[in-house]
Amino acid sequence: MRQNPLFATKSMERLMEEMRGENRLRRILGPVQLTSLGVGAIIGTGIFVLTGQAAHDKTGPALMLSFVAAGIACIFAALCYAEFASMVPVAGSAYTYAYATLGELFAWIIGWDLILEYAVGSATVAHGWSHYFQDFIGILGLKIPHVFSTAPFDYDPKLGHFVSTGTLLDLPAIIITIIVTVILVKGIRESASFNATMVIVKLIIVFFVIIVGAFYVNPANWKPFAPFGLTGVSFFGKTLFGQTGAGGEPLGMLAGAATIFFAYIGFDSVSTHAEEAKNPKRDVPIGIVTSLVLCTVLYIAVAAVLTGMVPYNKINIDAPVSDAFRQVGLPWAQFLISLGAIAGITSVLLVMMLSQPRVILAMARDGLVPRNFFAAIHERFRTPWKSTIITGIFVATLAAFLPLRVLAELVNIGTLFAFVVVCAAVLIMRRTNPNAPRPFRVPFVPLTPILGILTCTLLMFSLPAENWWRLIIWLAIGFFIYFGYGRHHSVLQQARARGDNS
Ligand code: ALA
Repeated sequence: MRQNPLFATKSMERLMEEMRGENRLRRILGPVQLTSLGVGAIIGTGIFVLTGQAAHDKTGPALMLSFVAAGIACIFAALCYAEFASMVPVAGSAYTYAYATLGELFAWIIGWDLILEYAVGSATVAHGWSHYFQDFIGILGLKIPHVFSTAPFDYDPKLGHFVSTGTLLDLPAIIITIIVTVILVKGIRESASFNATMVIVKLIIVFFVIIVGAFYVNPANWKPFAPFGLTGVSFFGKTLFGQTGAGGEPLGMLAGAATIFFAYIGFDSVSTHAEEAKNPKRDVPIGIVTSLVLCTVLYIAVAAVLTGMVPYNKINIDAPVSDAFRQVGLPWAQFLISLGAIAGITSVLLVMMLSQPRVILAMARDGLVPRNFFAAIHERFRTPWKSTIITGIFVATLAAFLPLRVLAELVNIGTLFAFVVVCAAVLIMRRTNPNAPRPFRVPFVPLTPILGILTCTLLMFSLPAENWWRLIIWLAIGFFIYFGYGRHHSVLQQARARGDNS
């Protein structure tokens, strides 16, 4: 029986064959660089900015547990990513895995969803960068004119609706996006070493926050521990467990976990560099798991210190970590942390904006988006320069006009969805290709992927309901593009039409 072309899968042989083709990226990254890319992508706006919003509006000190809950969901997904990355070490990450297991339509959906994760994620991060940049220049007595300081509107959790901020756009977010785009067009080697320096700086800052902050913890601030409760789950606007906010959004520890989940995003981007890894089968799983575990431990410690230093309802929501040190009377530490956060967030932006063009590159090679444009590799720099520049323009536009929390929630739901699909794909692949070499195997299959699917789905339901609609609209736009373009230009479909089934 002829398979429905929408569900045509790419064979492992075909994937490997493609890897040997022309126009490949350089293989220069080792395990330390890959872990460093992971940490570079992970520690950023989530821990430095969103912790404030989550603790203040949704969790109180139970934020510590939010980090545990989100960390657990990510570990399951990370193990699944690691198995795939070791099996199919080509650029494209979850997109490629879906192509090999679930077929072209699902691959497209995931690829389109990854754009949400990386491009909209980059916009979120650029916005967070702007907060710390303004905090930093504020210490020096400087100020960005109000009209250029943030997005023109924002959600007010007390009122439960959007309000005008009286601004035009977020200028610092635009500027940092342009700078990072230029660095990325120049090349991966330069980007990796720049990233390594930034990673060291931010690790020093995070350790500083934990160690120095510990001396200023007042355990009385940890009481009440969970003022909004320990749950926070809703179903399309109807709260099932926990408290409800003014706009109908769920509140509580799990709702906070769904917000700060953003802080963990990035470990998966290590897998998009598989094609640039020297020994991808071993080093990519190491990079994914090591970076995630390290960051989880640090995050829980930072959350404990932050909520111990400042009563949760006094935590600043723009630059919470540096502001906590100001509140306990250490302005010099505020200076240092702002500076470190700027460096840290820059490296996140770098890795995320590095990953995005590589996913598009993989989709372009498959003909699902215009190949001439999106798969173009720069002759001298060997980077996907055109998709990098398009990504930069897209990111700068979103960062300039949309508020941080809206961007972050949209990214979270999209990424959680991608995680669910990757966990499901591991289960499917174990059945369809049981004997394919798996240098790294997820332990306890099917339990681990199933737990991954359940925990990530739970977090999706802990986000405000409108995010589901936003995700559905985004995916609908994707469908439109696939059926209008990708389906007719797919390299796989064309090969099948010629009778080549490899
Ligand atoms: N995890 C990254 C951050 O928090 C996306 O900025």
